[in-house]
Amino acid sequence: MLDSRDSAKNNAIASLDAKGYLALPVPPKEELVPAIKKLLKDKNAVLMAHYYQNESIQELSDYLGDSLYLAKAAENVEADIIVFAGVHFMAETAKIINPTKKVLLPDLKAGCSLADSCPPTDFAAFKAKHPNAVVVTYINCSAEIKALSDIVCTSSNAKQVIDSIPAEQEIIFAPDKNLGRYLIKETGRDMILWDGACIVHEAFSFEKIIALSKAHPKAKFIAHPESESQVLDIAHYIGSTSGLLNFIQTDPATEFIVATEAGILHEMQKKCPEKTFIPAPVEDDTCACSECAFMKLNTLEKLYLCLEHELPEITLDPKLIEKARNPIERMLKIR
Ligand code: 13P
Ligand code: SF4
Repeated sequence: MLDSRDSAKNNAIASLDAKGYLALPVPPKEELVPAIKKLLKDKNAVLMAHYYQNESIQELSDYLGDSLYLAKAAENVEADIIVFAGVHFMAETAKIINPTKKVLLPDLKAGCSLADSCPPTDFAAFKAKHPNAVVVTYINCSAEIKALSDIVCTSSNAKQVIDSIPAEQEIIFAPDKNLGRYLIKETGRDMILWDGACIVHEAFSFEKIIALSKAHPKAKFIAHPESESQVLDIAHYIGSTSGLLNFIQTDPATEFIVATEAGILHEMQKKCPEKTFIPAPVEDDTCACSECAFMKLNTLEKLYLCLEHELPEITLDPKLIEKARNPIERMLKIR
């Protein structure tokens, strides 16, 4: 027999529109934030948000951080529900490491170009060509790719993860070739790279960054390692989103040109209100390419609907969870 929660869920599913969104009412704009806070409390839910989210979502979050911080936080969540304001692979990781929790993602279409650049069947064939290699995968990949991996890493701990592998061991690194090339330089290890990339970090223009740096001679140029190597070669500092945030707080410079998704400028400005942060310019002047369109699919309205109706939910085959968990746990044990 259906209980009232099931029938409410079925009603919500029945109201999905052609694009798969819940076509249900939301409170007026000015009432959204208190309504979301109330739902979080009433449902014993926590909101996790990545630095690339809209400011309003960052401000509402219980946990705000980079991929590594959010994965570690998800492992220890005791609340019944995790609402993940980030992209699909991040919510999926939370489900894999804390599978008894209900994990919600405000927009299931919030994917990742990097994760999409590594289809599991193609990757399994690639892996089969190098049967002796240890597979290190960047966390920006699907659960199926994680299940094909030996150890996962993020941009915060990638060097430590690679250093933990014996020197003579052959390594496959996937899916980001830019991060992979950077790690080859940093660790001196000759890794076999998968040919994937992030559309946001590949959009930065080397020539325009040089021109902007000339116009701001005191500014330091900082970049996320998903950026292309010619961009990384001119950076004063390269690091994960949390690494970049740490750098701007500890470095004496007062002006920074920042090559990563523009959402992080909000937290940078909050941490250092007296300093100036300039988003790095992109190739195409007509687009907002330094914004990750996937990350920005999450809105307050969708967050409200997702909490109210507990949809869309991340569901995974328990066997896949089991296989994908090992490489994540191996990473989490590295301190
Ligand atoms: P961080 O782990 O550095 O936050 O990176 C996440 C990401 O998606 C970068 O594009
Ligand atoms: Fe994926 Fe790039 Fe967006 Fe990060 S910025 S979530 S790597 S598409």
